[in-house]
Amino acid sequence: MDKFIINGGNTLNGVIDVPSAKNSYLAILAGCVLSSGVVCLHNYPKFDDIDKMLDILTSLGCKIERKEDRTLYIDCRNITNYVIPQKLAKKIRSSIFLLGPMLSRLKKVLVTYPGGCDIGSRPIDLHLKGLKTLNAKIVERFGFIEADAPNLIGENVHLDYPSVGATENIMMAGVLAKGTTKIFNSAKEPEIVDLQNFINAMGGKISGAGTDTITIQGVEKLGSVEYTPITDRIIAGTYLLAGAGCGGDITIKNVDYEHIYSLITKLKNSGCKIDIKGDTIRQVSNGKLKTFSSIETLPYPGFPTDLQPQALVLQTISEGTCIITENLFETRFKHTPELIKMGANIVTRDRMAIVTGVNKLYGADVTCYDLRAGSALTIAGMLAEGTTTLNDVKNIDRGYEKLEEAFNKLGANIKRVTR
Ligand code: UD1
Repeated sequence: MDKFIINGGNTLNGVIDVPSAKNSYLAILAGCVLSSGVVCLHNYPKFDDIDKMLDILTSLGCKIERKEDRTLYIDCRNITNYVIPQKLAKKIRSSIFLLGPMLSRLKKVLVTYPGGCDIGSRPIDLHLKGLKTLNAKIVERFGFIEADAPNLIGENVHLDYPSVGATENIMMAGVLAKGTTKIFNSAKEPEIVDLQNFINAMGGKISGAGTDTITIQGVEKLGSVEYTPITDRIIAGTYLLAGAGCGGDITIKNVDYEHIYSLITKLKNSGCKIDIKGDTIRQVSNGKLKTFSSIETLPYPGFPTDLQPQALVLQTISEGTCIITENLFETRFKHTPELIKMGANIVTRDRMAIVTGVNKLYGADVTCYDLRAGSALTIAGMLAEGTTTLNDVKNIDRGYEKLEEAFNKLGANIKRVTR
């Protein structure tokens, strides 16, 4: 497994672009299955999870062409295979997003339980309940989910929780179903709005994404499309949190500030100077900040769970105490023992972490166990005095493209060692 050798203590300065959003791209790739034409997607981000999803699409019968300018062509005219290979499905959580679109297009799907980051139990009951409401027959046996839906019928679905994945799955199932599907208490994340816009650009009839009720009017067929997905709010937030802690003057381009306003508010209150102009955010920090006092992860537009590990790292060197409540994923404090090795003062209990700022973190040999914990520990290494060895950084490649190069461009000192 690759590792990072991080020499800490540098400030971050300069300008950096934000790539396409992993979570939008993954849902949109699943949505390609709905198209009976050719999908052209721009700004293809080279994340491992995206490549794994493309492998799955290939196994279903799609023909994929990757162009040098980061345009992807996905020819979806001949999708015939309804079995998602177990080996591939186990590699990414979002393989489960194919249930809805495959049922809509092929009326049938066989998939294993999904893999992905180990950040909690991550049930899929809401996905399955919603699809059953639309008249799908679902059998779970021997670790597989077999779903059949010769006649998908639009219905009202009420989600007990605004799950991102369940909302996307049910939306996509409703696209080629007969009649109208309404999802109440749907997730409101920007990636859901992006999926709606993508599907509508292919001829779908969805409205309401971004609110808590989404309406999907079934259509006969979807066609070809050329589309540019939104940029990654979590990567933008990761850069801002790193810049806040290291100190310096950074400008982040291609970002919709509204998508990370919960973070921007906290950064401003802690002492960062933030200036927003169009799709550009400039942040100036002296690296000596107050803690955020409290962070509570919530569905959008609340504070994103995918920025909690990185925000926690910033609290370890900020003045005061911060109480962090992780409401979404129960094992998302797995990086805290690693931070304690680096000198952090953190007490965790169930879904709560109490972080009291210390003067300094010190370099240590640490390991990342999931994607966002990985970027968080990279930031910790950049803040620390001395050298940090961060092991298993392949986890980071799932959702960042050469994170070390992005940070080095801003002035960090990180070397990747490939074994
Ligand atoms: C998506 C994102 C992930 C992000 C998360 C929350 C992708 C590829 N991943 O994950 O990066 O952290 O949203 O913003 O888009 N739940 C159930 N039953 C279900 C489904 C979910 O109880 O059937 C619970 C989960 O355990 C969790 C909460 O709902 O506590 C939120 O999960 P969900 O919104 O579904 O997250 P994902 O779609 O898996």
